[in-house]
Amino acid sequence: MKNISVIGAGTMGNGIAHVFAMNDYPVNLIDVSPSALDKALATIDKNLSRMVSKEKITEEVKTKSLANIQLHTTLPDAVRNADLVIEAATENESLKLTIFKELDESCQESTILATNTSSISITKIAGATSRPDKVIGMHFMNPVPVMKLVEVIRGYGTSDKVTADIMDLSKNINKIPVEVNDYPGFVSNRILMPMINEAIYSLYENVAGVEEIDTVMKLGMAHPMGPLQLADFVGLDVCLSIMYVLQNGFGDTKYRPCPLLINMVNAGYLGVKSGEGFYKYSSGSKELVLSDRFKK
Ligand code: CAA
Repeated sequence: MKNISVIGAGTMGNGIAHVFAMNDYPVNLIDVSPSALDKALATIDKNLSRMVSKEKITEEVKTKSLANIQLHTTLPDAVRNADLVIEAATENESLKLTIFKELDESCQESTILATNTSSISITKIAGATSRPDKVIGMHFMNPVPVMKLVEVIRGYGTSDKVTADIMDLSKNINKIPVEVNDYPGFVSNRILMPMINEAIYSLYENVAGVEEIDTVMKLGMAHPMGPLQLADFVGLDVCLSIMYVLQNGFGDTKYRPCPLLINMVNAGYLGVKSGEGFYKYSSGSKELVLSDRFKK
């Protein structure tokens, strides 16, 4: 596997392109929006420069990595020679089904089609294609250049060979793959999202404030971020939609999303991406500032 195409130039797509390009893979990065592609390339440049300044890579590796990335706004040309396509478009089921149908028609028969979905069924996505044996989940974690894990998710029909190839490829880009089966939330979000939801319930039921809840988990459990800060980082809308996937998939009341989470999403308080969630964010500042809404 050499030629990689990545669909979607958002946070996850640009991180995935960054990691493959840095490990000598030619990458076609595809997005319908030219401005999203320009922004992605600027982000990759900035993150590579950060790695150069920390002496993790050389200036030469940075230059080579950027040269490995080609930008495209249309799909068929950009995937024609791909050995692997990784879809990292918006987390919307009907959009993903449409993309996979188009990929199935545009790619060579041998091309493996992977999705970076955080919760949509791989088996259902595979059903939009005529090659369910070659459809698989490659779930990268944010920030992709830093986080070691790739959760490799086997759909119901994914073949042993395709799974083994994707496990090997993940190792080739210096990640640590873990193989899991396709059930709601896979492993990562089946465990992470109920923890975040429970942290929001603890706030909603006034067990403690935002900073206290996050401090308990940071200092008591050695988490790098507290669950409420992490919810802001992931996006409260993403957390809510994954809770709905768990609730619908398992039909168990333990996955009921906290009403406070629902209210915040309806009001547009989505975390880092909207500028405010449990904390307030302004660009360039690393200081964690509590939202006025949660001040006592
Ligand atoms: N590219 C390259 N390097 C980066 C980077 C990026 N985008 N972002 C951070 N870094 C590097 C920094 O240069 C720094 O390197 P050194 O250790 O060599 O100094 C290191 O990462 C730590 O960064 P910072 O010092 O800026 O900040 P930090 O120590 O607060 O760490 C963090 C930031 C890595 C994000 C850390 O807070 C963390 O691990 N948080 C939890 C992240 C997490 O849980 N991610 C998973 C979310 S869930 C998900 O993605 C899946 C889903 O389906 C919802």
